[in-house]
Amino acid sequence: TSQYARDDTGCVTVDSVPVTEIAARHGSPSYVVSERTFRDRARGFREAFEAALNPLGVELEVYYASKALLNTAVARWATEEGLNIDTASGGELAVALAAGVAPGRIALHGNNKSAEELDRALEVGVGRIVVDSLAEIELVARLARERGTRAPVMIRVTPGVHASTHEFIATAHEDQKFGLSLNPVQEGEDSPALVAVAACVDASDALDLRGLHCHIGSQIFAAEGFGQAAERVFALRETVAERWDVTLPEIDLGGGHGVAYTAADSPREVAAIATDLAPLLTSVLESSDLPTPHLSFEPGRFIAGPSGCTVYTVGTVKTVTVSPGVQRRYVSVDGGMSDNARPVLYDADYTAVLANRVSEETPVLSRVVGKHCESGDIVVKDVYLPGDVTAGDLLVVPVTGAYCWSLSSNYNWLPRPGIVAVAPDGDTREIVRRESVSDLLARDTGV
Ligand code: LLP
Repeated sequence: TSQYARDDTGCVTVDSVPVTEIAARHGSPSYVVSERTFRDRARGFREAFEAALNPLGVELEVYYASKALLNTAVARWATEEGLNIDTASGGELAVALAAGVAPGRIALHGNNKSAEELDRALEVGVGRIVVDSLAEIELVARLARERGTRAPVMIRVTPGVHASTHEFIATAHEDQKFGLSLNPVQEGEDSPALVAVAACVDASDALDLRGLHCHIGSQIFAAEGFGQAAERVFALRETVAERWDVTLPEIDLGGGHGVAYTAADSPREVAAIATDLAPLLTSVLESSDLPTPHLSFEPGRFIAGPSGCTVYTVGTVKTVTVSPGVQRRYVSVDGGMSDNARPVLYDADYTAVLANRVSEETPVLSRVVGKHCESGDIVVKDVYLPGDVTAGDLLVVPVTGAYCWSLSSNYNWLPRPGIVAVAPDGDTREIVRRESVSDLLARDTGV
């Protein structure tokens, strides 16, 4: 059930707490996340996939893709609901550790991990490192040898699936930075993915090759792409078994499960996503004689997105003439592209509701905009809001739980660079200090 309702005065409530009260206590704008919804969606995803896939003999693990929204509280919620944590940088890893997540339940991803990040992962003993290039395989092997340990690794492959989503969040087609291709560069050669397997097998003193990983993209509604990716990744697993007599025990099919942002998206129940996938996986599993691998998934948006909303306060309202006789009302709020970069990055659609009261006034086509000095600073492109929306009203924009706070310039908990001034005499000095992960963690209250 939704976390939203209206109380007797007409005010929107989140899990029975009026947003007016939230704004009064904590200020505006605020991201508001329903712990209950987050936990329900985390547990719901795991249980739905277990219900659909366990009958196929598949053991399942779910990693919360923490890039969607990460702080120590949500890391705890996810793990308490039986999920592991997928991190995509040393910063995300630091937060998961600060939350007390057992290192064995953490995965480390990234197309350009630094030696420091990898070494830290080995030092604490993360459950898996998802390697993304040949150079990284060599680096991890070297670092593991130096530590006298064996690194658990998965190889990220590019299954070449064209997921229908925005170009910037589709990740399984060939021409992008992630993963190792299943297609040879020159005909007759081994594919980069096979070369990577060979490198891991050769370095098996230092690398424990656990399996293969793929991620086809984000905000995907149909199961077919996952089925296709599974087919290709399982085929590689067969080849590996034939060539090296190695049975890879794990396959990860990534995240990407879509959510409804506006009435134009049809929301899918998680049970339906899982049951759609089951027959596709059945045929993949049946075509193999190898023991069934452990499967894992990495949902981020699906769990965090609908759990959160943003509460804004309305400021200036003005009506402009778009063309003769055509007008548009601009409703400005006290935030904007800095708290939600998705409209400007991906042309993403959101909706908004007048939240502090109900109004009988006729709805007017409105554009909700922020307060940044930029005309692209749009929060909601087109939404009908009551004609009397005015300064001081509260608006709620739902489904901002994923990739809003996290994209607000510390994406993946990457510290922001400092500013170095070069003086006329050639001297250099930091006029703004480089941010550190502890600077970022200083804002995490830990409660
Ligand atoms: N696993 C891997 C390896 C990923 O790269 C991602 C997302 C996920 C899992 C989680 O995907 P999800 O379940 O959340 O769709 N900033 C963009 C989304 C970028 C997604 C990046 N990778 C947006 O706001 O739409």
